[in-house]
Amino acid sequence: MAETLIEAENRTISRSPHAAIVVVDFGSQYSMLIARRIRELNTYCEVVPYNAEAAALEHLDVRGFVLSGGPNSVYDEGAPHAADWVFESGLPVLGICYGMQLLAEQLGGKVGPGREREFGPATISASGSAPLLAGLPAELDVWMSHGDRIEELPQGFASLAVSENSPVAVMADVERGYYGLQFHPEVVHTPRGGELLGNYVREVCGVEADWTPGNFVEETVAAIRAQVGDGRVICGLSGGVDSAVAATLVHRAIGDRLTCIFVDNGLLRAREAEEVVDTFERNLHMNLRHIDASDRFLAALAEVTNPETKRIRIGNTFIEVFEAEAKTIEGAGFLCQGTLYPDVIESASHGAGSARIKSHHNVGGLPEHMDLELVEPLRFLFKDEVRRIGAELGLSDEILWRQPFPGPGLAVRIIGEVTEERVAVLQAADAIFLEEVRAAGLYRDLWQSFAVLTDSRTVGVMGDFRTYGNAIALRAVVAEDAMTADWARLPYDLLARVSNRIVNEVDAVNRVVYDITSKPPGTIEWE
Ligand code: XMP
Repeated sequence: MAETLIEAENRTISRSPHAAIVVVDFGSQYSMLIARRIRELNTYCEVVPYNAEAAALEHLDVRGFVLSGGPNSVYDEGAPHAADWVFESGLPVLGICYGMQLLAEQLGGKVGPGREREFGPATISASGSAPLLAGLPAELDVWMSHGDRIEELPQGFASLAVSENSPVAVMADVERGYYGLQFHPEVVHTPRGGELLGNYVREVCGVEADWTPGNFVEETVAAIRAQVGDGRVICGLSGGVDSAVAATLVHRAIGDRLTCIFVDNGLLRAREAEEVVDTFERNLHMNLRHIDASDRFLAALAEVTNPETKRIRIGNTFIEVFEAEAKTIEGAGFLCQGTLYPDVIESASHGAGSARIKSHHNVGGLPEHMDLELVEPLRFLFKDEVRRIGAELGLSDEILWRQPFPGPGLAVRIIGEVTEERVAVLQAADAIFLEEVRAAGLYRDLWQSFAVLTDSRTVGVMGDFRTYGNAIALRAVVAEDAMTADWARLPYDLLARVSNRIVNEVDAVNRVVYDITSKPPGTIEWE
């Protein structure tokens, strides 16, 4: 096994000049966060499941491991253990929580249930020094989450810090570069956790800070050229940040041999189609096929009111239109997609099931029979890194910070039937809301902010006339990711301005309401 890894390292240095830290995932909710923290230190980091084969690391120049936390106890029947390739590599290992207990147990120490469980904030006091603790004070505020404790240290280890309930809050075998932390350095509640991880990466593993946007662009452009050779690539643009950055990278690598297809489904926000054309064709000089397929999408949606049927019709129409256009691009052998790292990890660790769940949220998934090889330049990036790369490539803030927009577009924000007229009403109301949110300086603070055209008609009075018009709902949410969200406490005067303007400027609307439902139990979109 050791040989496999060493062989793998030798083979891959030429392919990936990046030194990397590998997070071995034992099921902690924080595994990806550890990787992000390490990447914020400008060091490349990947996450692999604990039961991966050594071959999963072949493309990396691994310099150290982090064993993540996990929900089990190491002494449980069938509890996951670190693979031989971790210890046989001779590389440094940092165990966090469950990972620390694995280190203790697998190297000959003893772990048992603690008398007191320790969850939440704690203070640890360091009694020893080691490269991991360099530059840090003796007392540190940390975030604990464990029920087990180390009863006997393995040979070669010493306890470097204690907390009220753990005689071993930090342990180390400095000689071998093995460290264990009973707490979570990756969470914000451990304020100096970043420095601890920094010490591990630099002082213990000796890895340099070479994971920068500039290096990424240079290496990725070279990798795309190597993959594509003198072939041609097709890329679907949606207007969102991922496809924009992916296409720009490919364009930088192969220029005019990239053709972008922008399927305008007529369900975009106001002026969005022109913005996409402006950006990619006029400013970035890419080959762009702008297909205005609004009529086809509207025809497919005629009389449809069920949200899932809307999604299916839109998804199928998208594939038909995209495929027909792609066929006219001669010699295209590759398809560029903006797949991100969390999707890659998710499908690697949970199998195809979760990939399928996601596909519902990814209108634009194309059928395999298209027989195109995938080019996925963002496969190893987190969303915030995509934005940094986009900025490095010179894309505008407008594109980089655009709020997420669902694939089926305004169709899932129009309750009831989608018609050309109703799309126009919603676009007008939505544009006013967004304009005012931007003017108030709140656009980036909100995960999403948009208008919904309800199917309620209400009575109103304007001047001397009684009106009978449509009710618009405004939705604005704050969120870290789309799994949960809270309704945004927008200032009343902003809401008042938006309501006033919408009723005055959008003919068909005579009432505006604000949605104060969180997710869960609501969803972000209305359909
Ligand atoms: P929900 O409404 O489920 O939305 O809370 C979570 C996030 O996903 C977006 N969303 C979609 N994106 N196709 C997409 O590409 C869809 O069918 C779809 N439905 C919801 C939504 O905008 C939010 O960001």
